[in-house]
Amino acid sequence: MSKDMELLVDKIKIDVKNTLTPKRYEHVINVMETALLLNKTNIPKWKIEISALLHDFQKELSDSELIKICKRENFPELKNIENWLPILHGFVAYLYAKNILEIKDNNILNSIKYHSIGRTKMSELEKIIYLSDNIEPTRKYLGVEAIRNIAENDIECALLLLLKTKIDYLSSQKKAGNIHPNTFLMKKWLLEEQKE
Ligand SMILES: [Fe+2]
Ligand SMILES: [Fe+2]
Repeated sequence: MSKDMELLVDKIKIDVKNTLTPKRYEHVINVMETALLLNKTNIPKWKIEISALLHDFQKELSDSELIKICKRENFPELKNIENWLPILHGFVAYLYAKNILEIKDNNILNSIKYHSIGRTKMSELEKIIYLSDNIEPTRKYLGVEAIRNIAENDIECALLLLLKTKIDYLSSQKKAGNIHPNTFLMKKWLLEEQKE
């Protein structure tokens, strides 16, 4: 890793620590460590670190602030914005990374933006950030152990089981309307990729 990137990672880490609650900071560090372990394709370490550190960086903002910022941008994924309050922080963190930190790497930017809704054609970095966010050691939900085990050998298979678990759970709670359409697109895309 170049010295510049190391310095940027250190700076971001301090900002994140000073901004987030200790519990959320712990989650972010766990996501980073989990993602580094899942990296089997030689993604540069600093790209994983920056993506993980920033993914929840704006999660302490109020819903009204998040809505205000997102509305200015007219993201196509955020039509009916009031339905998608839990995912807005990823879009706002993406804007922060792009506009304030001037990060140019689209892979990093997309892994932040889509970390809770996914999309089709996700890169390896996007996949491991999405997965790590859901399986880091403090995550507790029915089925997480199985997803963790599969993730050690097969990222795509672990993602498919994660999506099935998410969709089944929300449907059983009569909350299928809370599932962002991208989740279904991501699942369909992964299934098609697996067939090839
Ligand atoms: Fe998040
Ligand atoms: Fe997160």
